[in-house]
Amino acid sequence: MQDRIAHLAARYLDDTVRVRRDLHRHPELAFEEVRTGRLVTDRLSDWGIEFRTGVARTGIVGFIDGGLPGPTRMLRADMDALPIVEENDFEFRSTVAGKMHACGHDAHTSTLLTAGRILNECRAELKGNVRLIFQPSEERVPGGAKPMIEEGCLNALEGRPAVDQVFGQHVRPDLPCGAIGVRSGAFMAASDEITIRIHGQGGHAAEPHLLRADPVLVASHVIVALQSVISRNRQPDVPSVLSVCKVVAGDAPNVIPDTVTLQGTFRSMDEAWRDQGHSLIERVATHTAEAFGATAEVEILRGYPPLVNDPEATALVREAAVTYLGEQRVVDLDRWYVAEDFAYYLVERPGCFYTIGVGNPELGITHGLHTPRMTVDERSLETGSGFMAFLAWHAGNTN
Ligand code: NI
Repeated sequence: MQDRIAHLAARYLDDTVRVRRDLHRHPELAFEEVRTGRLVTDRLSDWGIEFRTGVARTGIVGFIDGGLPGPTRMLRADMDALPIVEENDFEFRSTVAGKMHACGHDAHTSTLLTAGRILNECRAELKGNVRLIFQPSEERVPGGAKPMIEEGCLNALEGRPAVDQVFGQHVRPDLPCGAIGVRSGAFMAASDEITIRIHGQGGHAAEPHLLRADPVLVASHVIVALQSVISRNRQPDVPSVLSVCKVVAGDAPNVIPDTVTLQGTFRSMDEAWRDQGHSLIERVATHTAEAFGATAEVEILRGYPPLVNDPEATALVREAAVTYLGEQRVVDLDRWYVAEDFAYYLVERPGCFYTIGVGNPELGITHGLHTPRMTVDERSLETGSGFMAFLAWHAGNTN
């Protein structure tokens, strides 16, 4: 079966590339994936794969019923693009001003389609069912995964049993084309947006002694004091980052403003530390401001949870990758401090989110995710689709 899957992935590569380029030309932002969804359902219909539309507005769930008894595996792709002006000059660059597939979700969607097509052709010998999830809005918090789960995408659906295990993949331009990267346990970060408004008293720059508090000076102390949150409170082996990135203060060199606004991001990989970090940020900011006669308002926008891969499911992905590609094309990854709403599926079910290399320095394909020249070596789409199908196959035989 491995050879058959690899053979089909190679045979359908041209079509996978066609779909990827079509999506790349026509990027759609979070919850606007209407054209993208139509392309997905047109293909599923062509191949006789049943599906349900309108899940979390623009999401789609496809159903592949294996001919033999076994567990239900979910395979997921995200479909949305980013508000970035593309700087690539290939002929299939974005035709929509200010929108771009700069995070590879065009590759995710096209490879999942082909993986589904392959599994559908092999379904007579497939153990258990495979559920295909085409998810909207990964890029914009609160994301599409949560509403898809709330609308039952993991539950028993359309007469089929509930999902037992979840898998998803993400492109990585910093990994060589076609390599599979895995990490067990905490892999990606919870990302929370911090806004702190410091209210003092504005006035003439020459007369700070007449003012209640200079919010610029207070903000400077708050920024420094916040660095103690991680360095003095967190257990040393719990990974975390706190960065203040945006400071909005006055407009003139000789006017003290009334208010200063600070914005930053807090990243963590452990829910208990995450909550503790939030209360420390709040405490440090409000009490530092108070010490100087100012006040601070702290607002924390909770992003996605930390992404934690199940050890058994990760071992299964690693084993499948070594079998499908050979040991030398499987990479053990470090933690990755970006956020990903696949984390919500992993809160509900055991599973693994892994990565696929799409870089190729010889072709100049090295640009990072979320940058205007990001692209993928399209030969990775053959590995991406074939491996995903093989993984689903392998998971059916192992459970
Ligand atoms: Ni992404």
